[in-house]
Amino acid sequence: MKNKIVMSLAAVGAALMVSQGVAAEHGAGAAAKGPSTNVAWTPEQLRLVASGDKNRGGQLNRDMFCASCHGDQGVAPTGNWPSLAGQRAEYTFKMLKDYKDGKRHGSATAEIMVQVAQQLSDQDMADLAQFYASFKLPSLPVGVSFDAAKADQAKAVVTRGDGKRLVAPCQACHGPNGEGAVTDTPALAGMPPEYFIKTMHEYKSGARANDVYSRMRLIAKTLSDEEINQMAHYYAGMTAK
Ligand code: HEC
Ligand code: HEC
Repeated sequence: MKNKIVMSLAAVGAALMVSQGVAAEHGAGAAAKGPSTNVAWTPEQLRLVASGDKNRGGQLNRDMFCASCHGDQGVAPTGNWPSLAGQRAEYTFKMLKDYKDGKRHGSATAEIMVQVAQQLSDQDMADLAQFYASFKLPSLPVGVSFDAAKADQAKAVVTRGDGKRLVAPCQACHGPNGEGAVTDTPALAGMPPEYFIKTMHEYKSGARANDVYSRMRLIAKTLSDEEINQMAHYYAGMTAK
């Protein structure tokens, strides 16, 4: 039963993959009610994520058809979908909870994950999170490349920030190698650039509003579209060398 639902979603997803960048604007500005997330990093919550069984997670990745969209090892098959390989377990867990609770929504692709996450228990989420975390950071999907000149242009703001606009350096939180940091600060290295750009625009418009203290929404609002493009190539290039 569970599998049938996700299997039909996988078919929907395959169609979305073809018509790229679907409805990034869909639902934009629809402010989520209440707190941005229900996840609080209590010792119990951290213990649950740490207890995840990566082998069972690997089985769920196949049985729940996550693999049909996210790959056998969490590497995205296409440039506009996220990779999950090498991602911090706490971040993956938080995203799955946020989708399940309807805290991350507001685009056609997020709605797929809202449906998928309804089928997952907290333990399933912890198991899946540990499975993806057990791989190294992803390389780009086959056929997707990055632009080294653009990557170079992003370097100043990524590493030093911009005091004039009060933009903190991205690497202060996301790590010097895009590997992510404490609890739910995600790895960005090797993220497919189209997905990166799409999700930054969703923070900017408020369509994605599950970030605690609006941190990413505030940062994204101060960046120009060109800067976001450059940063996408910067992070995409980190594992593509
Ligand atoms: C039909 C295709 C499809 C299936 C099946 C699917 N996903 Fe996704 N997943 C996506 C897309 C597309 C996104 C980006 C959604 C968005 O824009 O919010 C995504 C986002 C995610 C994210 C957030 C990634 C990030 O960087 O923020 C996680 C975690 C995730 N999926 C895990 C899973 C797991 C676990 C399963 C199986 C239980 C699964 N997905 C099944 C297509 C799919
Ligand atoms: C104060 C710490 C902080 C700073 C500075 C910061 N980030 Fe983030 N970022 C986060 C956190 C925490 C999240 C996860 C938010 C959530 O739960 O949705 C995140 C999420 C993201 C995501 C979504 C990843 C995914 O897989 O969907 C992207 C992309 C991103 N940040 C890019 C950037 C860029 C580019 C910069 C620099 C301009 C930056 N961040 C600066 C803390 C930060």
